[in-house]
Amino acid sequence: MSDQQAQKQAAAKAALNYIEEGMILGVGTGSTVNCLIELLPEIKIAGAVASSQVTEEKLRALNIDIVDLNFAGTLDIYIDGADEVNAQLQLIKGGGGALTREKIVAAASNKFICMVDASKSVDILGREFPVPIEVLPQARSYVARQLVQMGAEPVYREGFVTDYGNVILDTYDLDVSNPIAVEQVLNNIVGVVCNGVFAANQADVLLKAGNNGVETLMR
Ligand code: A5P
Repeated sequence: MSDQQAQKQAAAKAALNYIEEGMILGVGTGSTVNCLIELLPEIKIAGAVASSQVTEEKLRALNIDIVDLNFAGTLDIYIDGADEVNAQLQLIKGGGGALTREKIVAAASNKFICMVDASKSVDILGREFPVPIEVLPQARSYVARQLVQMGAEPVYREGFVTDYGNVILDTYDLDVSNPIAVEQVLNNIVGVVCNGVFAANQADVLLKAGNNGVETLMR
């Protein structure tokens, strides 16, 4: 097993400590979350709100009840991975294309617990990992032009359609030095459904796994 995979598993194991029997859990998407899902049968949760179709199927396969967010009220916790995280626990997410549903479930939860391996920590967001932006299909080209005007380089994620039937622009060279401001600016472009900067509503707890164990950072 690679170091990275071992770290993902260690972060997922640490996240298990936050889950209580009988709770309805918000569950993210991605390979780190998949490690957590494998461990979920250890705790008898009442159900889960899934942040993607893929996660939903994995949870159903374990006979975990899927709850519609509209009937779940405010969730106690949402657990997910991230593509990048900075020292303020602000994130870039959406590498798996599930950013919109992830942002909704995170917003509807009291606590967002984020699990990362060591490779995800950065000083400044967006320097290496492009910011995924979910866009209505008809607005793809218009939004791309707005992003180019901002000095960024959007790349259409070909052959990929989100759970909501939209497309993704993976946006390189975007200036994310002020994550809260850029998140707002992106939200204001007509045709943008959601962007992968999680700054206004960042993680509350970061479980950061390295080769020497899992560090817990709080906001
Ligand atoms: C899914 O859309 C993403 O936001 C994931 O949470 C993120 O890409 C982390 O994925 P891994 O756990 O696979 O690195």
